[in-house]
Amino acid sequence: MFQNLFRKKSLQLLQAESEASPLKRSLGVFELTTLGIGAIIGTGIFVLTGEAAAGTEHALGAGPALSVSFVITGLACAFAALCYAEFASMIPVSGSAYTYSYNAFGEFIAWIIGWDLILEYAVGNVAVAIGWSGYFKNLLDGLGWYLPGSVSAATGTQMVQLPSGAWVPLEQGLSTTYGEALSGFPQTEALFNAPALLITLAVSLLLYIGIRESARATAILVIVKLILIGIFLWVGLPHFNPATYWVPFAPNGISGILTGAALVFFAYVGFDAVSTTAEEARNPQRDLPRAMIFALLICTLLYILVTMVLTGMVPLEVLGNEKPVAEALKAVGEDNIAMLVAVGITVTMPTVLLVMQLGQIRILYTMSRDGLLGGRFGSIHKRYKTPSFATVAVGLFVGVLAATIDIGAAAELTNIGTLFAFVLVAIGVWILRVKQPGATRRFKTPAYKLVCALCVVFCITLMVALPGVTWFRFVLWMVLGAGVYTLYGYRKSKLATQP
Ligand code: ALA
Repeated sequence: MFQNLFRKKSLQLLQAESEASPLKRSLGVFELTTLGIGAIIGTGIFVLTGEAAAGTEHALGAGPALSVSFVITGLACAFAALCYAEFASMIPVSGSAYTYSYNAFGEFIAWIIGWDLILEYAVGNVAVAIGWSGYFKNLLDGLGWYLPGSVSAATGTQMVQLPSGAWVPLEQGLSTTYGEALSGFPQTEALFNAPALLITLAVSLLLYIGIRESARATAILVIVKLILIGIFLWVGLPHFNPATYWVPFAPNGISGILTGAALVFFAYVGFDAVSTTAEEARNPQRDLPRAMIFALLICTLLYILVTMVLTGMVPLEVLGNEKPVAEALKAVGEDNIAMLVAVGITVTMPTVLLVMQLGQIRILYTMSRDGLLGGRFGSIHKRYKTPSFATVAVGLFVGVLAATIDIGAAAELTNIGTLFAFVLVAIGVWILRVKQPGATRRFKTPAYKLVCALCVVFCITLMVALPGVTWFRFVLWMVLGAGVYTLYGYRKSKLATQP
């Protein structure tokens, strides 16, 4: 039994599977890079930055030193990206870290990583869909179109109608100037979060129809997203005043910087999703490593610039909310630009949903092909050549969760899950260099021992900085995963049934 847990898929078998893949190969390096940027830039920089800088009741803020947090996290991701790049150039299979682990560690760890990646992609997307819904609703409120309270928040949320006509959660309303007087205003209990459900379904529909269409839509939105960031920097820079706003630079010292880094890690999540399109890339071994590294470099640079300008143009108090970029622009009197940026964020944020959804679907598809998940997850649509069942299943899973629950801790859970995957990928690269030194690697991680070791150290440091409750949920999820494997995958695995 023990030996079976470590049964491995050979490189030859994986390469043969990739060559025989029925998926449509239509992505080049440009599309892959835009998919990467599409997945990276989203809620993290536009929503979480504010609280990571200003701090919350539960977490110390990094202050203006948030740009240092972004550098630390960017380094951790750069090391991980180099490791992913080597694997992607060796094993161009759409399972990403799951498949790499199948070759490096064997079946049980591979399953655990596959299960863990649900935290990164599906749970991450629940957070993104809820974040998007908040932006969208604010935008509608600003235009005077008020969504009914019953369909604009998680099931059971007590909603109250403000005199303006907008419905807000009671808890949020109590902190406005109306305070306790709100108890006399119209109230209702929310049934579900309709915008979060609808955006998830819309994105799933696009993914159902085809990879090329999805990549094209992403490329256009990514260009808009980059222009928006450019506008923010252009408009914000004249207000940049570090002599006033950067003193003190790190109000909570190293621990504030590290807590900030662990939180904003979410902003980088997604570059690895590019590797799940391995069977849809025209030349995966060459283009996947390039695309992941290009996307990460561009985003890291932009993140550092945005945080420097953001924290240098207004006092920290202005940033401690869910719309730090728009609020900072308003605070310096750029109301129109603030509005433009808010509209732009709402329109472009769905690319994150799209690429992460894509990643989740491709991983489940690969796990099913290996026999570790029900066969239907591996079925391919005859006409569209996409994993249709997996697309619908993931769409419903993410959509229903995003519509009904409000897991405040979703981003932290995503971070811990992703960091864990990065640690195993780095260890895997090292193991394969030792065990399979002669295997063809179109891309080789430079100074691999150093890079792998630094990746592990950085990622574990960030994991340790996450709250205890996140660790508890993470361990619980993994134990559940081990149970599912024992009951199903262990017996149904192709390696068991067709050795
Ligand atoms: N990196 C993605 C975001 O920030 C998940 O929304």
